Amino acid sequence: MTILVTGATGKVGRNVVTGLLAAGRTVRAISRSPGRAGLPEDVEVLHADLADPRTLRAALHGVDKVFVFPTAPDGTRALTAAAAHAGVRHLVLLSSTVPGYPEPDPISDAHLAHERIVREAGLPWTFVRPGGFMANDLAWADSVRTGGVVRDPCPDSAVALIDERDIAAVAVAALLDDAHAGRVHEITGPQSLTPVQRTRILARAIGRPLRLELQPADEFVRTVTGRGYPPEYATAMLDFGAHFAVAPGPVLPAVERVTGRPSHTYADWAARYADRFR
Ligand SMILES: NC(=O)c1ccc[n+]([C@@H]2O[C@H](COP(=O)([O-])OP(=O)(O)OC[C@H]3O[C@@H](n4cnc5c(N)ncnc54)[C@H](OP(=O)(O)O)[C@@H]3O)[C@@H](O)[C@H]2O)c1
Repeated sequence: MTILVTGATGKVGRNVVTGLLAAGRTVRAISRSPGRAGLPEDVEVLHADLADPRTLRAALHGVDKVFVFPTAPDGTRALTAAAAHAGVRHLVLLSSTVPGYPEPDPISDAHLAHERIVREAGLPWTFVRPGGFMANDLAWADSVRTGGVVRDPCPDSAVALIDERDIAAVAVAALLDDAHAGRVHEITGPQSLTPVQRTRILARAIGRPLRLELQPADEFVRTVTGRGYPPEYATAMLDFGAHFAVAPGPVLPAVERVTGRPSHTYADWAARYADRFR
C-alpha cells in the first residue's frame, strides 16, 4: 500500500520520505515543482498543489496513509476531504507544540486549526507536535559566515530545539503502526539550551570563535516578516523568548519512547550543518 507524503521537499518531509523507504514502504510524494524535488529515485513524485484541490484526487488514488504537512487551512481541508474520499486509513499531521499560555497566540492557533480540520475529516489521525526546530538556527548562517556573529533577540531563552530527523522519525513510526491512531506526540530535543550555549556548541562544530550580539526586536521582526510570516508571528516568537528566559522550556521523552532511540543533540545537528556556517 502506498503512503503519500505532502511537504516532501521540506526539512521534515524529506526525512519522512527516506524513513519510509528504509522501512520498505511504497512512497508517493507531491510537490508544486516535481522536476526540482530532488527526492530518491524510488519515490513517485506527482505534481500537486494543496491550494488547488483539483490536483489532489490523482495524488490520493490508491493511498493508504498520508503525512499531512500544514500549509494553509484550506489546503489541509482539501487534502483531508480528498483522503476521506479515497479511503485513506490514517492521517499523520505535522503540528506544533502549544505552550499553553493563558493567552492564545497566533502560531499555536494556526496549528490547532489544522488539528481541528484533521479531526473533523473522520479518519484515524496522529498529531506530531514538535517544539522549535534546530533548523531555525540556519537563520544565523549568513552573519556567522560573513562576520563570525550570531544575532539573536533572546540570548538567555532556553528551549529544547529538535532535530528535523527526529520529528520525521516519530511521524514515520506513526505512519507504520496503527496503534498511534488517536495519539498526540509532543516532542522536543534532548537539552534545553540558550542561544548563548548554542553559539558555543556551533563555534566548536565549525572550528571558529563566534560572538553573540543582541538583535534589536524591530530588526528581528523585519527578519521574520522578510521570510513571509505575519508580524504577529514575530511578536509571538519574542513573547515565547521572554517566557523561556524565565522558565526554561521542557525536555520531553517522547522521541525515545516512540522511536526506541535517543533524540539527536544540538552538537549532532551543528556537526551535520557545519558547512552551511563556514
Ligand atoms: N520552525 C519551527 O520551529 C516549527 C516548530 C513547530 C512546527 N513548525 C511547522 O513546521 C512546518 C515547517 O515549515 P517550513 O516553512 O520550514 O517548511 P519547509 O521545510 O520549507 O517545507 C515546505 C514544504 O511545503 C510544501 N508546500 C508549500 N506550499 C505548498 C502547496 N501549496 N502545495 C503543496 N506543497 C506545498 C513545499 O513543497 P514544494 O515547494 O515542493 O511544493 C515544501 O515541501 C510549518 O508548518 C511550521 O508551522 C515549525
